[in-house]
Order: sequence, then C-alpha cells, then structure tokens
Amino acid sequence: MSSGSGGSGEVGATWALIAAAGFGERLGIDRPKAFAALGGRPLLAESLDRLDRCELIDAIVVAAPPGWEEPSILLAEELTASKVVACVTGGATRAESVAAALAEVPDEALVVLVHDAARPLVGDAVVERLLAQLGEGYDGVVPVLPVDDTLKRVTGGVVAETVDRSSLVAAQTPQAFLAPALRRAFSGDFAGATDCASLVERTGGRVAVVDGDPRLLKVTTPEDLALVESWL
Ligand code: CTP
Ligand code: MG
Repeated sequence: MSSGSGGSGEVGATWALIAAAGFGERLGIDRPKAFAALGGRPLLAESLDRLDRCELIDAIVVAAPPGWEEPSILLAEELTASKVVACVTGGATRAESVAAALAEVPDEALVVLVHDAARPLVGDAVVERLLAQLGEGYDGVVPVLPVDDTLKRVTGGVVAETVDRSSLVAAQTPQAFLAPALRRAFSGDFAGATDCASLVERTGGRVAVVDGDPRLLKVTTPEDLALVESWL
C-alpha cells in the first residue's frame, strides 16, 4: 500500500474510492466521523471491510482526513484489507477528496465506485445491482430511495409551494461509473458537488438508478450512529 502516489502495480478493472475525509461537525465528537466508534471499531472499518470482501471489487483507495492517513493505513492493515492500494489526504470538500482518490486510479481501470464512509452498512447486493445496471450501457448508476414525506419549498419561513414528489428520489452511495465518464466529470469545476453523479450528469453522462437500501443510511448525527449500531 502507498500513502500518496503509486499503487500496487497490479491493475484490476473495478476500483472503489471511499470518501472518509470529512470532519463530522454535526456528529460533534473529538475526532473525524470516520473514526467514531461503531460496534467497537472505527466507523470506516465497516465499509472498508465490506468493500474489501466484495468479490466484484478489485482495488480500494481511501481519502482520509488530514492527519489521519496513518491511522487509516493501520486500520486497513489490521483488517487485512489487502485491496487497499492507496490512502490519500482528503480535501476541503467531498468532491475534492474524491478527486484526490481518483488521481490514484490507473488509466486501465474500467469502473469506479465512489462510497461515503459515513454509510457503513454497504453490502454486496447493492454493488451487484449497480454493476449489472452499469453494464446496460450507462455512464453512471446511483442507488436511490423513494421520498416518503411531502416536500415543500420554503422561503423566509413561509411555504412557497408544495413540490410534486412523484418523480423525486433520494440518492445514496455507493455510486458506480465508467472510469472515463467519472474522469471527464472531474476535469471541470467540481468543488461544490454533493455527489459524483451530479457532476457526471452535468458533463452529459447518462445516469441510471437502482434500488437503494434504507440501511445505507448516512450517519450524520449521534442519533444516526446509534441507529446504525442497532442494525449491526
Ligand atoms: N467527505 C470527505 N471529504 C470532505 C467532506 C466529506 O471525504 N472534505 C466525506 C465524509 O467523510 C463522508 C461523506 O463525504 O463519508 C459525506 O459527507 P458528510 O456526511 O457531510 O460528512 P462530514 O462532512 O464529515 O460531516 P459534517 O458535514 O457534519 O461535517
Ligand atoms: Mg459534510
């Protein structure tokens, strides 16, 4: 494994990038969210372990919080997560962290999955759905959930309109992309994007959806962490 540039020299077709570099301000603990305790190990361990054991994934790059590169490498070693080929320093935004990880992916890679460490309970089933749909000729595939609540657009504390939710879904990760489409998406201005699919859409890519999983909940608050822990 390398910290920074380089790789194992062995190139697989399908790479997974784990965005783990956020500070977790809303979780409000004394360390980055990726190192919050979940079931007795760091939150990052869950997705790292699960993606490493997923047979459809060949190699993994972790974007770690600044100053937490070494603990991330040690964690991968402890887990014997042998697919982890690089651990890079994340950036100021999620998109910048993903860009740093993407820079480690060799030209030969065909498919890149991008996953939030904040969604610990990633499983083989969603990865299978994503890759199967990607094979149908799309540039990207995103797992989504229906929106159950009524949605309202609010301005200055007053409802401006009730939004028709029938065509709206909530996007999760992992998101899967053809490597060239993701590279193209990151060749322009990407800093503010909250997910990778939005960049691929913006650069003309066709992005399909598959069923997401309620257990892919993103841990944002202490309550989320407790809920995910109860599902372990
Ligand atoms: N992320 C990242 N680099 C950043 C910001 C976020 O890699 N500069 C990652 C987080 O580690 C997380 C995912 O993107 O896995 C989704 O971000 P979010 O849930 O917002 O995490 P944080 O930014 O850490 O949390 P907060 O917004 O509460 O600070
Ligand atoms: Mg954030």
